[in-house]
Amino acid sequence: MANALGVPSPDKAAYMDNVAAVAVDYKQQLLDLLQLEPGLKVLDLGCGPGADLQAMADAVEVSGRVIGVDVDPTMVEAASERFRDHPQVEVLLGDGHALSFEEASFDRARMDRALQHVADPAAVLAELLRVLKPGGLLRIGEPDWDSLVVDGDLEMNRAFNRFVCSTMVRNATVGRQLARLARAAGFEVDEVRTASPVFHDFAQADKIFAFTRNTERAIRAGAIERADGERWLAELQAGDFLAAPLMFLMSARKPL
Ligand SMILES: C[S@@+](CC[C@H](N)C(=O)[O-])C[C@H]1O[C@@H](n2cnc3c(N)ncnc32)[C@H](O)[C@@H]1O
Repeated sequence: MANALGVPSPDKAAYMDNVAAVAVDYKQQLLDLLQLEPGLKVLDLGCGPGADLQAMADAVEVSGRVIGVDVDPTMVEAASERFRDHPQVEVLLGDGHALSFEEASFDRARMDRALQHVADPAAVLAELLRVLKPGGLLRIGEPDWDSLVVDGDLEMNRAFNRFVCSTMVRNATVGRQLARLARAAGFEVDEVRTASPVFHDFAQADKIFAFTRNTERAIRAGAIERADGERWLAELQAGDFLAAPLMFLMSARKPL
């Protein structure tokens, strides 16, 4: 949501690169769960600027293929530029609701924090089922924005989460729904696990969770009183800060 409620958003590619630099642990877990081997063909749907493509390309080696797809041309441009000299990596403009690939094209597919933004998660999962080979593995990592824990004023934490869930993120609680949605789409679900990085630095966390920007938006939307919002932000900046998001990592497979 660019410039929502008159509050400018940061550069999207820089935001995603920043998250990737901090979220090393859950991203490594998601990569390990993919069980990549040389020669496999992998789809990264909603690849953004391509933060995860290199690790996948290394794992499938030159005999494999990594295809990144994103609906945003600026992301495709950024990722394409990065992987210009990597023959086994291709980045394509596309929408997860209607992928341009043949049925059973991929051995593996993944999404990392992209299903939270799509118009119809069930339709995207149906597409992923179609383009995976029988027995192919799907791995998805998504947050649960209603479960963002911030030490301090509990009512403000709740008001902030309510605003983000109702106004800022389309499918803000899709993380907790992953297994149910995947089964409904026809996948066999092997595992759901959680990952919760803990942040102790307000400035670092603010870049990812947008406490300052989204509190200002909530104030402008009438969801939070200005005095309460400004006091909460001042306390978070001044105090012994702690915040932790809840990430769900789901492992599923297309039935044989
Ligand atoms: C939060 S970013 C995550 C990017 C990347 N997966 C990462 O971990 O750095 C979500 C991405 O999903 C993309 N996206 C949103 N809806 C999409 C759709 N319908 N089809 C394909 N990509 C989509 C956005 O353009 C954005 O680049």
